[in-house]
Amino acid sequence: MTQVKRHLVTCALPYANGPLHIGHIAGCFLPSDIYVRHLKSKGEEVLFVCGTDEHGVPITLKAKKEGVSPQEIVNRNYEVIKDSLTKWGIHFDNFSRTSRPIHHQTSQDFFTVLYDKGVFLEEVTEQFYDKEANQFLADRYIIGECPSCGFDSAYGDQCENCGRTLSPSELINPKSSLTGNQPIKKATKNWFLPLDKLQTEFLNDWVATKKDVWKSHVYGQCNSWLTDGLQPRAMTRDLDWGVPVPLKEGKGKVLYVWFDAPIGYISATKEIETDWKKWWQDDSTELVHFLGKDNIVFHTIIFPSMLHAHGDFNLPTYVPANEFLNLEGDKLSTSRNHAVWLHEYLEDFPGKSDELRYVLTAIMPETKDSDFSWKDFQARVNNELVAILGNWVNRVMVLTHKYCDGIVPPNSDHVDYNQLEEAEALVRQVDESILKFKFRDGQNHLMNIARLGNKYFQDAAPWHAIKEDDGQQRVEQILNVSLRLVQKFAAAAEAFLPGTSAKIKDMLQTGGELMAGKPVTKPVLLFDKIEDEAIEAQLDKLAKQASDNKQQPDLEPIKDTITFDDFVKLDLRIGTIKEASKVKKADKLLQLSVDIGLETRTILSGIAEHFAPEELVGKQAVVVCNLAPRKMRGVESNGMLLMAENTEGKLVFVQPETEFPEGSIVR
Ligand code: MF3
Ligand code: ZN
Repeated sequence: MTQVKRHLVTCALPYANGPLHIGHIAGCFLPSDIYVRHLKSKGEEVLFVCGTDEHGVPITLKAKKEGVSPQEIVNRNYEVIKDSLTKWGIHFDNFSRTSRPIHHQTSQDFFTVLYDKGVFLEEVTEQFYDKEANQFLADRYIIGECPSCGFDSAYGDQCENCGRTLSPSELINPKSSLTGNQPIKKATKNWFLPLDKLQTEFLNDWVATKKDVWKSHVYGQCNSWLTDGLQPRAMTRDLDWGVPVPLKEGKGKVLYVWFDAPIGYISATKEIETDWKKWWQDDSTELVHFLGKDNIVFHTIIFPSMLHAHGDFNLPTYVPANEFLNLEGDKLSTSRNHAVWLHEYLEDFPGKSDELRYVLTAIMPETKDSDFSWKDFQARVNNELVAILGNWVNRVMVLTHKYCDGIVPPNSDHVDYNQLEEAEALVRQVDESILKFKFRDGQNHLMNIARLGNKYFQDAAPWHAIKEDDGQQRVEQILNVSLRLVQKFAAAAEAFLPGTSAKIKDMLQTGGELMAGKPVTKPVLLFDKIEDEAIEAQLDKLAKQASDNKQQPDLEPIKDTITFDDFVKLDLRIGTIKEASKVKKADKLLQLSVDIGLETRTILSGIAEHFAPEELVGKQAVVVCNLAPRKMRGVESNGMLLMAENTEGKLVFVQPETEFPEGSIVR
């Protein structure tokens, strides 16, 4: 085993298509920042890099929607993101951008090495092409009917209704979202990374060595990709936004965004370190990737495959991915504006970045999804930071002034030394937890130092002790031990609560050990109580964001006109659901028996995420009775139930207003 000499730590590059919210922070920025601060405070050699991911189709879609260039979108968001991180005290050694020339150069060079080594499969495939717009269509630019659930505006890569992953050719009746035209198929050459080959060549063996090293959900997800078997994946795309493919034949094509983005870690290193190779190619350097769970496959399979195929590069030692954070019981969503934005938090709660750090660490989704709520935020700040930590430190400082004129009293190891030893043990546990990426535990051990100090102070009760014989000496002992506990707390708190740690160190006027005989400053309050009004204001804001969002709903445009004859072709009738059950291996589908008067039909409906089978039995609905049968999961579906869907994806049944005979015609 090579000895670890230095650590290269990366935080997944956020897309420059919007500002950062608390989900980004809890998922990736905060854990990586804690880890890096901790290593640095131990004097380790660390490089911490990140930047904005400025390519990819969603950015081009957003630019189109706003009628500006993609460059304009990313420039704007880079500034907002960088600014909020700086204000929040997340400090990278380099926060770069994938639109910079050094990144384009680095990713093109990387591609060229793989190309020259003959790693890629060159393949000509038929891709969708919009003749009017004169361009190939990325999967996201193609919309059509989902073959699984019938949803009529599924994207070419995924159906947002039933969640199924799709390829554009599976869509029924595909349309270009640029012009609305039916796209044609056109041959095009692209370069594929042979993941199937790389899987047997090295991935299987390498990943197996991580079984007890990576978090189980990370290993599990990675392993399930391997078990399913990997397929070659295109590393180039027919698109005009991205890093140009550095080949003559590559004109009009760019590198796949997931090819160039992780190389962003390398270019961010090169940008500031002449000796960048020691960070990437020296095997005494540990590579650690922090990210959210939707990025696992890219960091455990695709990027390592690229690095391996290139040769000379280290592979990641740890990939401590987090799961997702929800907000008030609901998924965070940029498009629905259901989020707490980092830059807004800083405006609404100035000077309170440690409070948010504390709460987000306490609920960090380390092994499963978790939920942020404002009431819980208030409770944790008031009951833990204010009532335990702030109160303890304040009382120790106030009494140091009252009984010792603000001078640190002499050391007295002979009494109460076990308090200090206990605190030392907790400090060690903080360290161990952080190194194991168990940040919730780590912070809890840290707070236990404050709990211990608080209890000791309460039990020793210097305000009583002062009245005894020898009272002054006893009180000095208590305050000496208490100040040393406070000092130990401050040192251990550096990674979790950097602002608070610095404030305490300022008060003690010490960077290192506490010195008897030295003065301390007047106490400053570490935390204020969060009042109910502030929390209500945040809840109102969320409600307003939700209702603003409803006032300008993303309603679909009215479809093309049809004739009356077209309309009467539909056979719509009232039906009653008699039975309902889940379909095996299909999370979204329910199998229904529907009485339509003349007969009872089997109908499959993609509504399992919206309704439990038992609540459906007895419900009436409008049924499309003459829809061509379709087989899904081996079951034939004969018809369709009509539902109304709002812009948030909520479904309701379209029903007769009172119970009505089955088979009644709707027209
Ligand atoms: N931009 C991606 C996301 O937000 C993450 C890119 S991570 C990198 O999901 F490795 F590609 F850089
Ligand atoms: Zn679907």
